[in-house]
Amino acid sequence: MPERTAPAAPGGGWVRATAPATTANLGPGFDTLGLALAWTQTALCALAPEGVADVAVDGPGAEGVPRDERNLIVRAATAVCGEVGLGRHGLRVRLTLELPVGRGLGSSAAAVALGLVAANALAGQPLAAQRLLEIGTQLEGHPDNVAPALFGGLCAACQDGGRVWAVRLAPPEGLRALLAIPDRPLSTAEARAALPRQVPLADAVANVQRTGLLVAALAAGRLDALGVATQDRLHQPYRASLIPGLEACLRELPAVGARGAFLSGAGPTVLALVDAAADTRPVAARLEGWLAGWGGGRVRSVGLAAQGAAAVPVQAPTAG
Ligand code: HSE
Repeated sequence: MPERTAPAAPGGGWVRATAPATTANLGPGFDTLGLALAWTQTALCALAPEGVADVAVDGPGAEGVPRDERNLIVRAATAVCGEVGLGRHGLRVRLTLELPVGRGLGSSAAAVALGLVAANALAGQPLAAQRLLEIGTQLEGHPDNVAPALFGGLCAACQDGGRVWAVRLAPPEGLRALLAIPDRPLSTAEARAALPRQVPLADAVANVQRTGLLVAALAAGRLDALGVATQDRLHQPYRASLIPGLEACLRELPAVGARGAFLSGAGPTVLALVDAAADTRPVAARLEGWLAGWGGGRVRSVGLAAQGAAAVPVQAPTAG
C-alpha cells in the first residue's frame, strides 16, 4: 500500500478514545468469553513524527506504565498506522489511569483497544472492526478481553489459524457486577503458570456444558441457571493456590444473593453477578470479608456495558 498522509482531524488532529473494562472467562469460558463493564478508560491521542512516543500518564499505578514505544496504546496505534500505509508514525498520548492494572479487569485490552480505535479514527477509519480485532488479539495473545473491549456486550471468541472469530450478544438485562478488587495485583503470566498442562476429560466436559449453558442462559434471561453455569473446573481451582480464600468465597456467594460468581479473567478480582434491583449489601459484605483476609481491597458496583471502544475528534489538550 502506498504511503499516505493522515487526514487533518479537527482540533489539530487529536481524538478522545474510550474503551471499557472487561471481565474474561466468566467462570467456565476460559480464554473464550468476555463481558464489557460500565467502567471506562479514556485517552487523548494524536499522531506524531516517526520515532516519537510522547506519553503522559497520571493516576493510580501510573509509575508502572511505559512512556515509550513499549506502551500498549502506542504499540496498537503503530500497528494500525503501519497497516494502512501511514508509515511509521509515532503517537502522543495523554492518559489518566482509571482502570486498575494487574487485577483481571482488562486494563491491557482496554489500552490496546484505545490505540486501535484512536489510530483508525486519525487515519480516517480505513480498517474494519474485524481487522482491529485481529491486530488486538495478536498484541494481547487472547481474544477474550479484546473482543468485548472493542465491541462491548458479551462476546464469545476463538482463534482458528490466523483468523479470529468473535460473536457479540447484547449485555444481559437486569444484572450488574460487584467487583472485589484486591490491593495486591496478580500477573496473568503468574496466574497462567499455575495451570496444569492436562486436565481430566470429566473436567473438560463439565466446562463445555457450563459454557454452553452460560451463553444460552444469558441470551435467554434465565438468571436462575447462572449459579451452576458460572462454575469452573479448568482454571479457578488451580489459581486458588495463589489466591487464599477464593474457593470458599465463590462457593458462599450464591447463598447471600449472588446469581453467579467467578474469578475475573486471570484474577485476582472476584466478580459477583447480582440482580440490578436487589439489596446487594450481603454480597458486598462477603466480598469485603474475603478481601480483608487477603491484604485488603475495595468493592465496586458497576453496570454491564453495551458500548465498546470508540474515538471522536477533540480540540488539542492544553499543555501542562
Ligand atoms: N483468559 C485469560 C486467562 C485472561 O484466564 O488467563 C484474559 O485473556
